[in-house]
Amino acid sequence: MNKIAKLFKAIKLIIQRPVLLNLIVNDQSVLQKKFEKRYGSIPLKEIDIFDWPQAQQLNVSPMSFLSGSSLVTDFALLQILSIHYKVQTYFEIGTWRGESVANVSPFVTGAYTLNLPDETMRKLGHTQAYIDSHRYFSKKLSNVTHLFGDSATFDFSEFYGRMDLIFIDGDHSLKAVQRDTQTALKLQKSLDSIIVWHDAKSDTEYPRYEVLMGILNGLPKEMHQHVFLVRNSLCAVYLPNNNQYQEMQINALPTRFFELSLSQQNLQMPNSSSQIK
Ligand SMILES: C[S@@+](CC[C@H](N)C(=O)[O-])C[C@H]1O[C@@H](n2cnc3c(N)ncnc32)[C@H](O)[C@@H]1O
Repeated sequence: MNKIAKLFKAIKLIIQRPVLLNLIVNDQSVLQKKFEKRYGSIPLKEIDIFDWPQAQQLNVSPMSFLSGSSLVTDFALLQILSIHYKVQTYFEIGTWRGESVANVSPFVTGAYTLNLPDETMRKLGHTQAYIDSHRYFSKKLSNVTHLFGDSATFDFSEFYGRMDLIFIDGDHSLKAVQRDTQTALKLQKSLDSIIVWHDAKSDTEYPRYEVLMGILNGLPKEMHQHVFLVRNSLCAVYLPNNNQYQEMQINALPTRFFELSLSQQNLQMPNSSSQIK
């Protein structure tokens, strides 16, 4: 199909389904241009946390390997940071199945995780199955407190100044990441408290510019130098005392490989009629 024919076909499809316009507006090359217009073509700094001694032997669990689940290395990163910095208090925006908070909970004293209430998700048109999957892995953990609300309107004040590690993994739109980042600054126990953002990359080697822009917009300029993408993961991290990083390089040769020994535990289905016979 030639370019003109493609253009007409695209216009026809957009008229039929205007939602397709998002694919153009949210294309990474479009967002990269927007990012560079604001911040210039800054080299993205990458930190290699899997080099740290705490990363040598980890037990990442639970790990559902279901749609939308984080990478093993994302959960591992939260564990490494919790161990290395002796994190006591952890605050998360975006619970979903509770996998990330369940991975952190053995290493911290208190973990707090905020998610949209079930009723709000229902009004947003989410399926009952999706809603039911929330808190699956975290609901029985004694040091995990589940909080319900929209991070745009939730009253965080009782948690201000109390958190060692804040994990932002809720709404990944620019506006929401910017807002949640500003909230994280208020939650920090001190300026040394760590902030981790999930989905700051679209895969382990490609930045996700909308999220990066939300992060930088949300932080004061002097903190920008302390934000790093985390190699082998989808995360970015604010680490004020780190001086070791490389410029992010796409398609670099691997510097290591990981070895995973997989084991599994079967879970009881809540409703026996939904079991496969
Ligand atoms: C990517 S998932 C979180 C995954 C989870 N951290 C994990 O690794 O297991 C994002 C979650 O954030 C919730 N969410 C989206 N927007 C939100 C908001 N404005 N406030 C609170 N929660 C939100 C969604 O309901 C969804 O469950």
